[in-house]
Amino acid sequence: MNKKEKQNNLKLSYYFETFGCQMNVADSDMLAQQLTGRGYVRAEKVRQADLIIVNTCSVRERAESRAKARLEEYGNIKKAHQRLWVIGCMAQRLGEELKAEIPKIDLVIGAEEIEHLPKKLDTYLARSEAGPVMGEYSSGISTFLPVMRGCDNFCYYCIVPYVRGREHSLPATDLLDQAKKLVDQGASEITLLGQNVNSYQDDSRDFSDLIDLLHEIKGLKRIRFTTSHPKDLSDKLIETIASLPKVCKHIHLPVQSGSAQILERMNRKYTRNHYLRRIEAIRREMPNADITTDVMVGFPGESEEDFKKTLSLFKEVRFTAAFMFAFSVRPKTKSAEMSDQVPEEIKLNRLKALIAMQTQITKQCYKEMVGQTVEVLLTHQQDRRTQGWVGQDYGCKRVLLKKTGDLGGSIVFATIKESTGMTLIGEEMV
Ligand code: SAM
Ligand code: SF4
Ligand code: F3S
Repeated sequence: MNKKEKQNNLKLSYYFETFGCQMNVADSDMLAQQLTGRGYVRAEKVRQADLIIVNTCSVRERAESRAKARLEEYGNIKKAHQRLWVIGCMAQRLGEELKAEIPKIDLVIGAEEIEHLPKKLDTYLARSEAGPVMGEYSSGISTFLPVMRGCDNFCYYCIVPYVRGREHSLPATDLLDQAKKLVDQGASEITLLGQNVNSYQDDSRDFSDLIDLLHEIKGLKRIRFTTSHPKDLSDKLIETIASLPKVCKHIHLPVQSGSAQILERMNRKYTRNHYLRRIEAIRREMPNADITTDVMVGFPGESEEDFKKTLSLFKEVRFTAAFMFAFSVRPKTKSAEMSDQVPEEIKLNRLKALIAMQTQITKQCYKEMVGQTVEVLLTHQQDRRTQGWVGQDYGCKRVLLKKTGDLGGSIVFATIKESTGMTLIGEEMV
């Protein structure tokens, strides 16, 4: 690429911008690791990078328009020696069309190809000056490990099965090796990823068995996973989470709607009752578990009555937190053909009402933590001057602690003294 740098034998650098879900974050991390292995270093600023990589999402129209705007922006500031790559789900969906739209793009790599990228990367880089493995890749204290890829569920609103391909689980023994490596590189917490992670199956090993296997890793302090599908949340898995000390008592269980009719129209393959019975089963085994969710308002045909059922489900379950979305029409999905689309204004009003309700519930959940003792994984220092450490409890709630020293990755027990909105302030128990 940059001749002067080649002559000076300086390292080439990369810059990532990642949109979308944790799977994309995991893919960016994996690619960064591959680049580091080829002698690249991470650039702090886009202008300093030789290789600019934008990892994209397609899940909602807005996700695509934001990624495109960023690609245009980088295309405009790009210098001759710099390369602009677009990878991920939008790259999969639009392919070479993207290059026609934004000509400054040098390479498009779709999400389905990313899994096989390590083998093809050298061809893409087409560089002869690649150096030996340099520097150690640090995956961080809390890191992601995709255990399965793709999705076969074809919920009628969702583009993921079209851009991520068919569901397949990765071999448990490979995952064990990868997880051990991550722990050796400094990870204290591993989050197992999959679009429908609880349908993991490797020969006779199901997801509970995989968790059992990884639980044995020495030095690994915490295991999380996402996303669970309500239809596949077995009693066995709930018992595994409850019984293994390293597994966070936190289940992210997207409900999508509180209306049985809308769930059926979404092809979610469970009913409102089934969902509520699963919540009861979780709380029977783990009364203090944090349960979070994803929900959508304004799916085609959603009436005011249907929406009220979502509100009532939220009131009943009292999720610790929720990701809330207005339905966005995605090409190819069944919902795009449905004639009874909900007007945009109604969708936004419903979203506002739901957010207002959930914000109160979340604040209340945080308030109820005051006086409780929690286990906090310290992830980073907030402010070197005040020596404050930031960490996460089992439920991913942010906890601030006054502590000194190099403590990243350690776990401490703390009593919660105060809650300010979405942050808990704790004091270490001695
Ligand atoms: N696999 C997970 C599941 O089954 O819930 C999540 C997949 S998706 C990447 C993340 C969230 O985006 C979904 O749970 C859903 O709430 C939301 N989502 C997906 N498609 C959408 C659409 N067309 N419009 C609005 N939100 C959408
Ligand atoms: Fe999309 Fe449904 Fe698959 Fe989740 S389970 S990725 S919402 S099709
Ligand atoms: Fe994730 Fe977006 Fe792709 S949510 S799987 S990055 S479409």
